Amino acid sequence: AKEQQHEFVIQETAVKRLCNGGMSIVTANGQFPGPTVEVSEGDSLVVNVVNNATYNVTIHWHGVRQMRTGWSDGPEFVTQCPIRPGQSYTYRFTVTGQEGTLWWHAHSSWLRATVYGALLIRPRDGVPYPFDFAAETVPILLGEWWDMNPIDVIRAATRTGAAPNVSDALTVNGQPGDLYSCSSSQDTTVFPVKSGETNLLRFINAALNTELFVSLAGHAMTVVGADASYTKPYNTSVLVLGPGQTTDVLVTFDQPPGRYYLAARAYASAQGVPFDNTTTTAIFDYGAGDGTTSPAMPTLPAYNDTATVTAFTTSLRNLHSIGLPSVVDEDLFFTVGVGLFNCSKGQSCGGPNNTRFAASINNVSFVLPSTVSILQAHYDGGANAGVFTTDFPANPPVQFDYTAQNVSRGLWQPVPGTKLYNLKYGAVVQVVLQGTNIFAGENHPIHIHGYDFYILAEGFGNFDAATDTAKFNLDDPPMRNTVGVPVNGWAVIRFVADNPGVWLMHCHLDVHITWGLAMAFLVKDGVGELQSLGAPPPDLPIC
Ligand code: C2O
Repeated sequence: AKEQQHEFVIQETAVKRLCNGGMSIVTANGQFPGPTVEVSEGDSLVVNVVNNATYNVTIHWHGVRQMRTGWSDGPEFVTQCPIRPGQSYTYRFTVTGQEGTLWWHAHSSWLRATVYGALLIRPRDGVPYPFDFAAETVPILLGEWWDMNPIDVIRAATRTGAAPNVSDALTVNGQPGDLYSCSSSQDTTVFPVKSGETNLLRFINAALNTELFVSLAGHAMTVVGADASYTKPYNTSVLVLGPGQTTDVLVTFDQPPGRYYLAARAYASAQGVPFDNTTTTAIFDYGAGDGTTSPAMPTLPAYNDTATVTAFTTSLRNLHSIGLPSVVDEDLFFTVGVGLFNCSKGQSCGGPNNTRFAASINNVSFVLPSTVSILQAHYDGGANAGVFTTDFPANPPVQFDYTAQNVSRGLWQPVPGTKLYNLKYGAVVQVVLQGTNIFAGENHPIHIHGYDFYILAEGFGNFDAATDTAKFNLDDPPMRNTVGVPVNGWAVIRFVADNPGVWLMHCHLDVHITWGLAMAFLVKDGVGELQSLGAPPPDLPIC
């Protein structure tokens, strides 16, 4: 195992996309998307982040287990204070027990719209991949582009409580592709391939707010991994990725030599909720011919094709048999959904019917502290008592038909708070994630920091322990760090609380985390609080 060192200089960089004459975006090292980080399993990473931009920044290593290295996890005000302009901070952690594709992104306001990149984890020397391929393409990062500073987009929405503007384009490796106006074919991402060769393709959904269907014209795809965990090979013509999720795929380029579009478009699970309904493209090019004929276009499912989403997610199986126990220590039931705050006097309320948008888990709308990080407050004990409480409810405070369209909001007025749930070190934790339909039912990509989890089952309607427990896959459940909770449905996840620290769980639609669809787990180490986590690094930013 090696130590890999990197420096990310966060800076403002001029770019031109779509018909906009040019604008300045925040980047790492002037690259958009940012630099690819490659490690072998077992390596340590040391990444010095220097903030030369005019915005606060933190970097999160999405999906990295961060075993006892919580100070390097990155979510702003959860495990650290922001790196202010002119400051720097060095993240140090080891990547163990995970192979495949993860990514990194800013975890401060909406900065991750432009500050993100791939994190590739190869097997250590001498360890084979569980599948064969001749080569791999560069990682495929699917993103979202605003013709405006994304920080300004969310600031404007937060002022009034309204929904933020939807994006102006979807992107592949930072480029909208040639179906958009003013986006020429020279600006379209091209992946050169060799006829007859099987390639490993690593897909990352780095979009802020858009679940995606992805398809490659004329070619079958075989899924072999997701979220840096191997799966049994699964053949499909369309991939489904929620924000935060990754999927590793094998493709054999066995078609007549030519050019083929890779295309991605929104899966919009919610009715009547505005979304980016455009299509982004890149081109897979066999290098034959003069490139004058237009590439073949794949067929993508309709924006509301929930059946295709279910078929995909329920087909993913762990490569290995796990044999999970049927008994758990913590049996939690969390509702996840979007709701509305009533308008109070003197507030600006731009949401529907004079409200402000809110989102919550078990009716608690998460509020970040601003003077100290939660992890620091916990580590310090007494002095910062009161920054958070540990009374996050294990169950919803009110039970009702969660997926009915006609729930009264009075029953379900979200309560703002910085509430954590205590987990005993080593506890087997099961969480039923139940979607609600208070404002609109929607698919929520729920992500946990510091853990991977098994997905035992998913379904539509209200979770019913009496009948749905029988559907649990305890044999070969896929392991992920982000699960799509089906629209007006539920998903059940399982993990062992073996990583001491403060770990954020949230919807990876950035608009929802902004509205409070988050909570955090506090895992003590059974020895003595967080002592085994070690003292905060000397360069940890203070607020
Ligand atoms: Cu990829 Cu808390 O995020």
